[in-house]
Amino acid sequence: MCGIVGVLGNHEAAPILVEALKRLEYRGYDSAGIATVNGGTLERRRAVGKLVNLSDLLVHNPLAGKSGIGHTRWATHGAPTVSNAHPHQSGKVAVVHNGIIENFRELREEIVAAGLKIETETDTETVALLTQMHMAQGDDPESAAKKTVARLEGAFAIAFLFDGYDDLMIAARNGPPLAVGYGTGEMFVGSDAIALSPLTDRITYLEDGDIAVVTRTSVAITDAKGKTVTRPIKTIQIESTRIDKGGYKHFMAKEIAEQPGVIQNALNHYLTEDGEIVLPDGGIDFTKIDRLTMVACGTAYLACFTAKYWFERIARLPVEVDVASEFRYREPPISNRTLAIFVSQSGETADTLAALRYCSGKVDTIASIVNVSESSIARESDLALPIYAGVEVGVASTKAFTCQLTVLFLMVLKAARDRGAITSAELADHISALRGLPSVINMALEQNDTVRAAARKLSQARDVLFLGRGQMYPLAHEGALKLKEISYIHAEAYASGELKHGPIALVDDTVPVVVMAPRDSLFEKTVSNMQEVMARKGKVILISDAKGLAEASEGVWASIQMPSVADALAPILYAIPAQLLAYHTAVAKGTDVDQPRNLAKSVTVE
Ligand code: F6R
Repeated sequence: MCGIVGVLGNHEAAPILVEALKRLEYRGYDSAGIATVNGGTLERRRAVGKLVNLSDLLVHNPLAGKSGIGHTRWATHGAPTVSNAHPHQSGKVAVVHNGIIENFRELREEIVAAGLKIETETDTETVALLTQMHMAQGDDPESAAKKTVARLEGAFAIAFLFDGYDDLMIAARNGPPLAVGYGTGEMFVGSDAIALSPLTDRITYLEDGDIAVVTRTSVAITDAKGKTVTRPIKTIQIESTRIDKGGYKHFMAKEIAEQPGVIQNALNHYLTEDGEIVLPDGGIDFTKIDRLTMVACGTAYLACFTAKYWFERIARLPVEVDVASEFRYREPPISNRTLAIFVSQSGETADTLAALRYCSGKVDTIASIVNVSESSIARESDLALPIYAGVEVGVASTKAFTCQLTVLFLMVLKAARDRGAITSAELADHISALRGLPSVINMALEQNDTVRAAARKLSQARDVLFLGRGQMYPLAHEGALKLKEISYIHAEAYASGELKHGPIALVDDTVPVVVMAPRDSLFEKTVSNMQEVMARKGKVILISDAKGLAEASEGVWASIQMPSVADALAPILYAIPAQLLAYHTAVAKGTDVDQPRNLAKSVTVE
């Protein structure tokens, strides 16, 4: 994770670096730091915690210089302390790093044997020390950095800055993304296009193994074999305005409220006025495939898990779904009639990217569903389907999840139609329900106050269970994930029918149980499981529609009413109360909603 940025500019670098780090803070907020070279002298400032602490430090202790590098950290090796904060410096070299140097222990031994002192607990320090060692032996910065990078194993995006060199920055990529940005007589490097977007819209993405030697007027890139290469310069379109909360208390609240609009946006991109579903780049030939493999992490995985129910029931396509960190090492056999779908908001999740690479060359088509069109996962797919959710700042994913589900549902309908699994009339019904989705979501959002009241009760709990059946089972997992990540309350999800096979032993009058149950064909079964909970004094929060509540809300602890919706779309609609419940619980507990502890928005290490 971690975000890195570098500037060879014509203005003071420190404010530019801090501004860019603000746009990268979603990658981690354990500490932040910058280093600049001023008249040949290298200096740095670092502070523990959020970026605001670094900004405060810079007010009292400014850093001059027009060349600099910056870092926002998600700690991997070593606690979040000032000495572990980046940039790491040894002698004439400072480095910022995103990733993990897997062989750092072995490198440390060499460094110590050479008489240099280790001062931090980080893997990154070895990069600075090794480079300094090479320079002390007579190498110039370029050859010292290249010799160092050649020794590194693991995943890294690194920017180097050198004492005595105001017009030089070296960038190296192996794994996590790294872009070089072109200005006029200025150059930049950054972890992503969002960080660089106020500075330039002309960007070159480095490839794995690339090292870029950057000056204010030139970039020389060599690939993993040391061969000089030219990488394309892309003009990117990313809103450069500062992303703000738009009057909401938290980004998460704003992003929850945006869902009707962004889902409409996604529908506009994939659905013609005549109700035809159009996928980009010629789409997918669903008649050529006989199964699907869907892989992702976290909330994106739960979108895949939900879509499994849809693909199997509506399009009659068997689906294997897995979390990327397991899939990538499982070495599953895959047939060449498989469509592999990778879902990722950031498009940079290391495990998902590795899983995609595992499938490359083995399957019929690699499709990705991403929010960042320029991301590594999008670029390495045969077909990338953007979700059009707009920038998602809150670490807990909300609008990206419902937009992922919307795009996946459109894919399901396309597959079902192409394979003759549904009739035109059934398709037309689904499309008409989809068109109504933004307005039913608006109605669900109107339940905000009821959800807040239930959340106040929930905030007192130590453990919470979430239950769902059928396509609501993955959503129960999403509800539990949202609650634990932002309120720090322990929450687990179970398939309602599974409860009596063990977990019901947890139920007593201290355990709230959230039941997600639209009045569908499985409702009565779920309600029976709910009654089993209530018979053991479990406190049920029932989320259902008017009909469901009329039938089953007697004796529940709290109930939340959803508008009625076509059966298949219930997981998208019921995501709203799940998100609001987590949000209001976290607010009631006073936790950091947008930047919960220990988390980061983009997980570029495995
Ligand atoms: C949870 C959450 C995470 C992400 C996961 C995958 O609210 O946001 O679980 O869904 O880290 O991230 P992406 O979608 O960027 O691959």
